[in-house]
Amino acid sequence: MRAEDGTPLGQGIADDGWIAVRLLAEADGDFETGLTRRVQAALSRRIPVDSTARRLVNAENDDLPGIRVDDYAGHAVITLDSPSLDAVVPLVQKVLDAPSLVATYRRDPRDAGKTPVTRAVAGDDPGEIEVVELGLRYAVRPAMGKDAGLFTDMRELRRWLAPWWTGRRVLNLFAHTGAFSVSAAAHGALRVDSVDLSGPHLARARRNFELNSLDALAHGFWTEDGFKALDRLRRTGQLHDVVVVDPPGYSRSEEGSWQGEKDWPRLAAACLRVLSPGGWLVACSNLGTQSPRQFAGALSQGAERAGRRLRVVHEACPPPDHPAALHFPESHYLKAWVVGVD
Ligand SMILES: C[S@@+](CC[C@H](N)C(=O)[O-])C[C@H]1O[C@@H](n2cnc3c(N)ncnc32)[C@H](O)[C@@H]1O
Repeated sequence: MRAEDGTPLGQGIADDGWIAVRLLAEADGDFETGLTRRVQAALSRRIPVDSTARRLVNAENDDLPGIRVDDYAGHAVITLDSPSLDAVVPLVQKVLDAPSLVATYRRDPRDAGKTPVTRAVAGDDPGEIEVVELGLRYAVRPAMGKDAGLFTDMRELRRWLAPWWTGRRVLNLFAHTGAFSVSAAAHGALRVDSVDLSGPHLARARRNFELNSLDALAHGFWTEDGFKALDRLRRTGQLHDVVVVDPPGYSRSEEGSWQGEKDWPRLAAACLRVLSPGGWLVACSNLGTQSPRQFAGALSQGAERAGRRLRVVHEACPPPDHPAALHFPESHYLKAWVVGVD
């Protein structure tokens, strides 16, 4: 690929989707050698993390746009943003030399409900396996790529929160497979109520409780729309000491639709109405299009509606296996804030 004035920019792979070309190697030398060098560089910049689930290649942030590689206890997964990138799979495998590698695609949110196509590149699809993060066990399905069952970019937030759960009543909204719930219960939370629209995700959350010998019966699992649950809790006057809220960018349920870009004030207000004075709102947004300033504005609007005052206590960073390239501003997508509530 060349700039308008003819200057060579690099070698890449063309696509007919949103992104015309993904540059994956320098302009000079052959493509295979250039790409191999970038994968090797990504692996060499990883430092040890306290988890057997970790990211090895983080797309644009490792100069490998559209390509993510995760390692789940020795089972590697390559997740591509587009089938146009298929040709890189054998090249990445050559560097990884992983005994177990599955390749899958990032599901476009517009294709919600469709199962991503997955294929085993080396070894068999491992199915469900166990990983250990910060001393706790989680069941993951590597072949499900982005939906494997553990969001490793939230590890530092889980680490920071760990000493603070003791004796707290916790509400985990959009709980998914219950990573925050397990961590809270394992660190002495009085009770954890997990809410998710998906029954299968909550079944996996219960399974994660069992894996850690936590009594699932002492906690609550609610297959319910998050807003509906908040309304129910407000009407019945049930207060919590910590509310974790980590919604997807967009979702639709029978109760209506949720759009992260415009609905945070409504969501924050509803969470604040079920938080006890002195409690914490753990508010997480992974929208790359929403700046920290906009997120702060949305939370403040919610606070105004609920008649509360907020103070940021902690801002979590993605862990070192999710490096964020400064030359790629969208990489600063994560807002994971612990906010004290008067
Ligand atoms: C980004 S994930 C949450 C990740 C989770 N906090 C964790 O760390 O594992 C979003 C979750 O929200 C759930 N969800 C989507 N729409 C919902 C809604 N309207 N009400 C409740 N849960 C919803 C999805 O099923 C999914 O599990």
